[in-house]
Amino acid sequence: AAIEKGGYEHFMLKEIFEQPQTIYDCLRGRLDANAGTITMAGIQQYADQLIKANRIVMIACGTSWHAGLVAEYIFEELCRINVEVEYASEFRYRNPVINEGDVIIAISQSGETADTLVAIETAKAKGAIILGVVNVVGSSIARASHGGAYTHAGPEIGVASTKAFTAQLAVLTMMALKIAHIKGSISEERYRLLLKEMEEVPEKVAIALKQNDHIKQLADKYKDARDFLYLGRGYNFPVALEGALKLKEISYIHAEGYPAAEMKHGPIALVDENLPVVFVATKDAYHEKVVSNMQEIKARKGKVISVITEGDTTSTELSLDTMVIPETDEILAPMINVVPLQLLAYYIGVAKGLDVDKPRNLAKSVTVE
Ligand code: G6P
Repeated sequence: AAIEKGGYEHFMLKEIFEQPQTIYDCLRGRLDANAGTITMAGIQQYADQLIKANRIVMIACGTSWHAGLVAEYIFEELCRINVEVEYASEFRYRNPVINEGDVIIAISQSGETADTLVAIETAKAKGAIILGVVNVVGSSIARASHGGAYTHAGPEIGVASTKAFTAQLAVLTMMALKIAHIKGSISEERYRLLLKEMEEVPEKVAIALKQNDHIKQLADKYKDARDFLYLGRGYNFPVALEGALKLKEISYIHAEGYPAAEMKHGPIALVDENLPVVFVATKDAYHEKVVSNMQEIKARKGKVISVITEGDTTSTELSLDTMVIPETDEILAPMINVVPLQLLAYYIGVAKGLDVDKPRNLAKSVTVE
């Protein structure tokens, strides 16, 4: 088992560190920034339907659902198509409305999650086109889909999903870019720029991973907190949700993710000098707004911890601790920003002496409802 973990103490840590490679593997043979092309046969085939779609519905569970949420923001921005993101378990039971031309994107690491499988069968029976974004080749969801793209992240052993999530984001982003380019809803200049930036993501994830030792220290500092709040806006809102989910799964600390602006409508009541509040606050269109949310938490003595862009001194001043990330386009930032949050959850779980690869009560894939 030690050999399988490649020298890492746990599969989870190994898989977190594999991400520069897995994202690279996901882009390889598909994205060519010089040529300005994205090659995805299983998407190309359905390009017409996607361009004409009135609506795309993302269906998933757990971490994969968070990837769907990020994709909602990206597809709406780049493709100008209305997107809904559904929990498979809710979607399947409520006699969902499927209209002519709706496209379903099913997102699943294992390809075996029962709720997701039944949800897509339900939609398929009503005439929807199903595209799968799946990691496990030949899995049930892959077979039940009309088309789609594999994430190529390799086997994920740790129960809490890490590298599968960033690979899902990479695939979904490429899909959105491809559709937007064919549709003409993105300028050639922005398209080219995003392709170039995308090629640099593996390297930037590798840079983010250099925060490892620093984050390990943060974990020791915050491991005894009873609750955590994770906040972000826009593309970083789903990242906050995913950061909170990772912490819950691995450390059994209660954590909530929230849109930073919405915290005034509830979670702010929880803020006191004992509450760590993790902001996903990298530079993007919402940054100023997030900074004012940080000020609000600081004024109430909450412990502000933030994921920030290199050189952002304003956020540094407002934070007790920071995790620093290289700059990228806001659309691509979730793939990088989630990495320090994965490490934070991991090291808090380890500091608490927990079995991080096999947290209690959780299963790697939920094949019963
Ligand atoms: C379980 C796993 C999660 C995963 C979710 C969805 O809850 O513990 O890590 O995100 O299932 O799984 P899927 O294989 O469909 O992505």
